[in-house]
Amino acid sequence: MRLTENARKVLEKRYLARDEDGRVCETPEDMFRRVAATVASADKDRLSEKELKKLEEEFYDMMVNLEFLPNSPTLMNAGRPLGQLSACFVLPVEDTMEGIFDSVKNAALIHKSGGGTGFSFSRLRPKGSSVKSTGGVASGPVSFMKVFNAATEAVKQGGTRRGANMGILRVDHPDILEFITCKQNNADITNFNISVAITESFMKAVEQNADYDLIDPRTGKKTGSLNAREVFDLMVNMAWKNGEPGIIFLDRINRDNVTPQLGEIESTNPCGEQPLLPYEACNLGSINLSLMVKRGRDNIMEVDYDKLRETVRKAVRFLDNVIDVNKYPLPEIDEMTRGTRKIGLGVMGWADMLLILGIRYDSEEAEKLADEVMGFISREARRMSQELAEEKGVFPYYDKSVYKEAGIKVRNATTTTIAPTGTLSLIAGTSSGIEPLFAISYIKYVMDGTELVEVNPYFKAACEEAGLYSDELMREIAQKGSLHDVEGIPQHMKELFVTAHDISPEWHVRMQAAFQRHTDNAVSKTVNLRKDATLQDVADVFWHAYKTGCKGVTIYRDGSREEQVLNIGSVK
Ligand code: CDP
Repeated sequence: MRLTENARKVLEKRYLARDEDGRVCETPEDMFRRVAATVASADKDRLSEKELKKLEEEFYDMMVNLEFLPNSPTLMNAGRPLGQLSACFVLPVEDTMEGIFDSVKNAALIHKSGGGTGFSFSRLRPKGSSVKSTGGVASGPVSFMKVFNAATEAVKQGGTRRGANMGILRVDHPDILEFITCKQNNADITNFNISVAITESFMKAVEQNADYDLIDPRTGKKTGSLNAREVFDLMVNMAWKNGEPGIIFLDRINRDNVTPQLGEIESTNPCGEQPLLPYEACNLGSINLSLMVKRGRDNIMEVDYDKLRETVRKAVRFLDNVIDVNKYPLPEIDEMTRGTRKIGLGVMGWADMLLILGIRYDSEEAEKLADEVMGFISREARRMSQELAEEKGVFPYYDKSVYKEAGIKVRNATTTTIAPTGTLSLIAGTSSGIEPLFAISYIKYVMDGTELVEVNPYFKAACEEAGLYSDELMREIAQKGSLHDVEGIPQHMKELFVTAHDISPEWHVRMQAAFQRHTDNAVSKTVNLRKDATLQDVADVFWHAYKTGCKGVTIYRDGSREEQVLNIGSVK
């Protein structure tokens, strides 16, 4: 197998099975075999032994070749005692003591197995309102979030990886100001990402510089009002300060809710890419786009659509099977997740694919290709889900879905999601999700004090071809963080090898929006801003995301948070 040294290290640390003495007792190939066999076994009553083996081989091959990887819990837990294979969960938080602490307990069970949880705290009564049974006063959403946070902290040690949470509050909840500022101190509520759930009427009020009403969720009555623009500016301020809160567009998310009869979507998973109903879980998987290319006519690299189609088809079958072999942590989750059969197929290695094709990330050509590639994946995935419906039946809640009205038979209520692929991309040795490169080269400090210069492989190849490669040059680039001011690099290379901070905020959002147009669920993307970005830049990103149909947006201004808590690299 072609695994980088970093990939091997990560696999050994968390993914490979261990014996009773805690020693690693499988190779990466064994791990993929374990996963392939478990996932194929969903079809054991339907297929002959020979057919089953063939299916297992197909699954094994696409993983071992690093063409497709399922989300981390599937790699870690398939065929092992925990057997919990999903990365994303949403749990309800009811406005009762029992409800709140049930949710704390359920989150702990999910974290233990490597899943992440999202919660909306919007149903909790505001701080200071009365508690009938005790005659006391309620502590409000933010204070309960701290309880969830502490529980996550305590589970951290024993679980497969540190649990991650998303906390959501509606913009019209009376405690919204406290929520928006609750993470302004970096040391607070560290196990949560927070996002404000924004409504269209709120955005209209911002545009008109009008006031909007705050509503007590328990009584449905107005408790006061705030100036929308002031609230918007406060969110911008806080996000500029240290990246939080993010925002999600609730109405838009619910317009894409394919089973409205089952309830309203009120939250997403921790990194924002998967809106779910309460008690729903979803398993994700990502195709490595850097391997979906071939040498075409005139020796020019192009997208290999035949290979991509085959990979999408196998991946959809794989993810659909995961639903059947998954062991769910709660009966309610079992019921909901098998009921809607949501899967989330996405991509990683987008920036690498563009480099291979010689297309600059922030260009109209790249945006057009994003539409083409993701449009293709989405159509093929949906088609495969339709074929699976013929073969194995529609999802059980189909009658309560919009597909029924439309007369389209599908096996999965949703098929596409773009995950951050924090560890998956490291295992596959490619760029993460749809993010641009973060650096062309960087200096890595090894334990014995030596410094290693890590260079993007495509840049390295281009430099070698041009006879430019030298250790000093790579160090200089690592220090400068961009090719912009580096002498001796030809213009065409400067044009192609752009990093997150070379790319304008507008282009970050444009790329997110292009992928969102062809994604059932949502797209995980961080709009990485330079340190000198202004408040206006942040406000523009929020508006632009709103205007271009994104389901939410997250920004991070370089250096604004010394310790980036949910930075993907540091949470695994
Ligand atoms: O690459 P990997 O499959 O490990 O995960 P990802 O694509 O970076 O994140 C996908 C989802 O996994 C997140 O949105 C979370 O729901 C969950 N996750 C988590 O629960 N805990 C983490 N430490 C990382 C991710």
